[in-house]
Amino acid sequence: MISQTMQQIFNQLIQVDLNSAYFYLAIANYFERMSLKGFSVWLQAQHDEELTHAHGLIRYLLDRGGVPVIPSLPQQPVNFGTPLQAWEVVLQHERYVTNMYQKGYNVALQQGDTQSQVILQTALVEQVDEEAQTTDIIGKLKLVEGMPGGILMVDREVGGLRQVKQPVAAPAG
Ligand SMILES: [Fe+2]
Ligand SMILES: [Fe+2]
Repeated sequence: MISQTMQQIFNQLIQVDLNSAYFYLAIANYFERMSLKGFSVWLQAQHDEELTHAHGLIRYLLDRGGVPVIPSLPQQPVNFGTPLQAWEVVLQHERYVTNMYQKGYNVALQQGDTQSQVILQTALVEQVDEEAQTTDIIGKLKLVEGMPGGILMVDREVGGLRQVKQPVAAPAG
C-alpha cells in the first residue's frame, strides 16, 4: 500500500494535471477567438493529454490502495495577450509542472518507493518533449514577430502537428 506522504504527492499532481487541462482549454478558446485555429487545436489536444495524465495518476493511486482526491479547480483567465505572450505562458506553466514532478520524484526517492519513482520518471521524460515543442513554437513566433502572415503560417503548421476529436454542438430542436 502506498504511504500517506506519497498519496499526498500524487493527489497534488492530480490537481496539477487537472488544472493544466483547464488552463490549456482556456488558452485554446482564446486562440480560437483570435481565429488562430491551429494553435487552438494543439492546445485542445494538450487539454486531452493532461486529462489522460490525471486519469493515469488516479488509476495508479487506486491500484496501490490510495485515496484519490478530485479537487475543485479555479476559474481560468480569458485573455492571454499576443500569441507570443500566450505561448510563453504555456512554457512557463510546463516548467512549473516539471518542477512539481521533480519534487514528487525526490520524495519518492527519499521514501524508497520504487514504483512511484517509475511513474514519476515516465512523466518527467514526457515533460522534456512538452517543453521542447513549446520552446520551438516560441522560437518560430519570435522569427516572424511583427508579421501577421508569418503568425498564420506558424499557426497552420502547429495545427497540423496534432489531432483532436472535435465535439459537435447539439443540433437545434
Ligand atoms: Fe501532464
Ligand atoms: Fe503538460
